[in-house]
Amino acid sequence: MTTISPKKNQRLTVRDIAARKGQTPVVCVTAYTAPMAGFMDAAVDVLLVGDSLGMVLYGFDSTLPVTLEMMIAHGGAVVRGSKHACVIVDMPFGSYQKSPAQAFENCARILAETGCAAVKLEGGVTMAETIAFLTARGIPVMGHVGLTPQSVHQLGGYRTRGKSEGEADSIVDDARAVAEAGAFSMVIEGVVEPVARAITAEVAVPTIGIGASAACDGQVLVAEDMLGLFGAFTPKFVKRYADLGANVTAAVEAYAADVRARRFPGTEHVVSPKK
Ligand code: KIV
Repeated sequence: MTTISPKKNQRLTVRDIAARKGQTPVVCVTAYTAPMAGFMDAAVDVLLVGDSLGMVLYGFDSTLPVTLEMMIAHGGAVVRGSKHACVIVDMPFGSYQKSPAQAFENCARILAETGCAAVKLEGGVTMAETIAFLTARGIPVMGHVGLTPQSVHQLGGYRTRGKSEGEADSIVDDARAVAEAGAFSMVIEGVVEPVARAITAEVAVPTIGIGASAACDGQVLVAEDMLGLFGAFTPKFVKRYADLGANVTAAVEAYAADVRARRFPGTEHVVSPKK
């Protein structure tokens, strides 16, 4: 297995990730729990505790109901379950958009209460002032532009963005503003390839794509999507590397059959009183 860790037995830092601009692609995957973080940690550079956990773990139909407390609980679990990857935690909807001061207060809680290295927040030009405020005060920020799921109602759905010239220009403006405000990296989600390519060529920080082509400096996928653990429908930009959901179903069916036939527990699973 190839892993890139400049310092043995130490976590990758945000500076290590920032230094990967134009180098070996940054590998990022979402993680929400300690055991999953442990399974994936050594193979990746970044574990992202995405607010997608609202949909994947909690069954909400958007990320909007996710709370700061949920992100703190899952962020702490992922930090405890890993030791190599740089852990970044998403700021949930409503926890940072109101003002730079509100963002600072809640980002500081995320860093202090989870032990993560950085936060991620959605938005471009309108969030630049907040990103500058946070980074000037010691909070590393990963940006997120293009399809920003917390704005699903305003965007009118989860469609790919940047198809018209006007929309493409405004996404490039967003990325430029996020980089100039001091973000150390940014996610580009759900945009057409030329937009991802233009942003990646222009900004000085690594771009991490999801549904944004191979033109980016790295890639991120939701782990449950690539492992076949979530949803009947696989989006076009996801490659399925396993079908673990089917394995879970088969294993639980075998267990149920054993219990009903009294094959489980067997004698090897039963504790006898000492003689
Ligand atoms: O919430 C999330 O998982 C994300 C990634 C899809 C980038 O923001």
